[in-house]
Amino acid sequence: MVNLGDLLLRYSFLIFMLHVIWSSNNKLVIADVSAIFIFGDSTVDVGTNNYLNGSLATANEPYYGIDYPHHTATGRFSNGFNPADYIARYLGNYKKSPSAFLALVQKTSTFKSSISRGVNFASGGSGILDDTGNRGFHNVVSLTRQIEQFQTVRGNITEILGDVKASKLIANAFYLISVGSNDFFDQFRYNYNISAAELIFDLTDTFANQLQNLYNLGARKFGIFGIPPIGCCPAIRAVTPGGACNETLNSYAQIFYNATFNLLQHFSSANPEMNFSLGNSFLMTKGVIDNAAASGFVEVKEACCGTGPFKGIDKCTQKSDLCKKRDEYLFWDRFHPTQKAAKMAALTLLYATGQEFVIPINFSTLATIQH
Ligand SMILES: *[C@@H]1O[C@H](CO)[C@@H](O)[C@H](O)[C@H]1NC(C)=O
Ligand SMILES: *[C@@H]1O[C@H](CO)[C@@H](O)[C@H](O)[C@H]1NC(C)=O
Ligand SMILES: *[C@@H]1O[C@H](CO)[C@@H](O)[C@H](O)[C@H]1NC(C)=O
Ligand SMILES: *[C@@H]1O[C@H](CO)[C@@H](O)[C@H](O)[C@H]1NC(C)=O
Ligand SMILES: *[C@@H]1O[C@H](CO)[C@@H](O)[C@H](O)[C@H]1NC(C)=O
Ligand SMILES: *[C@@H]1O[C@H](CO)[C@@H](O)[C@H](O)[C@H]1NC(C)=O
Ligand SMILES: *[C@@H]1O[C@H](CO)[C@@H](O)[C@H](O)[C@H]1NC(C)=O
Repeated sequence: MVNLGDLLLRYSFLIFMLHVIWSSNNKLVIADVSAIFIFGDSTVDVGTNNYLNGSLATANEPYYGIDYPHHTATGRFSNGFNPADYIARYLGNYKKSPSAFLALVQKTSTFKSSISRGVNFASGGSGILDDTGNRGFHNVVSLTRQIEQFQTVRGNITEILGDVKASKLIANAFYLISVGSNDFFDQFRYNYNISAAELIFDLTDTFANQLQNLYNLGARKFGIFGIPPIGCCPAIRAVTPGGACNETLNSYAQIFYNATFNLLQHFSSANPEMNFSLGNSFLMTKGVIDNAAASGFVEVKEACCGTGPFKGIDKCTQKSDLCKKRDEYLFWDRFHPTQKAAKMAALTLLYATGQEFVIPINFSTLATIQH
């Protein structure tokens, strides 16, 4: 049964997508933010895990990066750029996301000149809980650790600019956070003895502390991606009877989105200088899955690169099946969007006018707030 509300929602999504596709051909640079700091998992990682010993959550070999400049596999879990790259590109004078923290610290001669434009701390496989990802991928940087690394960088910026200028830069910077899916995937994989309600409570509680730590370090403008319909990614379809979505996982994503919104509302009333935007990746992605053709995609179930059913069994390698028309696919590999889907998502979060996809304000408005 499709109700009127659903229909209207889909309709407004299509109109919005047309608007995005049209306007993305024009130049849409709006806010020249002082800096961008990025936290989270593989959805926004630009190569952190290349610097971790023994990490299995890597994307530094072809066919990753096949559509990236010079076909380089950088560690992005994409055929090209990822959502962090597009957010950075449209928020200011960036070509792509700032570099990974672990890459910057290796280049001591340029470290200081780089960090004041921003740093990317995100690590594929990681989650809100400290243990998430370590069992399956051996070595990832948890969100807690990422925030500790930011604390180091904040200290370095203060050394360079002095207290007053550094505080201003830190307060006006944009904080992009995309995390949470792996906490649920780990629960799915290892079936930890914890109820969904307890897990969501733990996640919300831990995330609140992590945001508070960032706020206490001077962060003010939080742009947050909600988690997508994780039950519909090729890795999950591949192990679900009939290739269906796992609606239990999808319901966790929706419950967690609501919990995150409540948390952010409480958090911003308790911390008066905080501003946030929360992106509804669930609704955006579901809109594409349910209206593939109208959204500009041909294949929204199977990944472009991988093996097995829905190409959902293994990560993308040079031995995988590779699709030809990458722009026709929603999923690049068993978990991650193609560059085209990443760009659409970023543009939606930046410029959406209604309240369906990003609340209470869009990312471009968030970026222009001055502290
Ligand atoms: C990673 O492994 C290399 C070689 O085994 C070693 O030299 C290096 O110290 C290790 N790095 C870390 C961070 O453990
Ligand atoms: C950044 O700060 C850390 C911790 O205070 C320090 O160990 C490191 O040397 C600093 N880096 C630079 C390049 O100043
Ligand atoms: C869907 O995911 C839930 C949560 O991890 C799991 O308990 C359930 O067995 C999965 N269902 C199917 C059909 O795989
Ligand atoms: C799982 O949790 C329940 C309730 O907390 C407990 O009674 C049970 O012994 C636990 N099972 C395992 C295998 O740890
Ligand atoms: C999330 O919140 C919205 C608006 O309050 C509500 O309509 C929806 O049913 C909630 N979804 C879940 C899964 O709790
Ligand atoms: C930013 O946050 C402050 C304090 O909560 C609030 O008064 C203001 O309206 C917010 N700005 C925008 C553009 O939402
Ligand atoms: C972003 O949001 C603001 C305020 O909600 C709105 O005025 C503006 O039109 C939106 N941006 C775009 C490009 O739609």
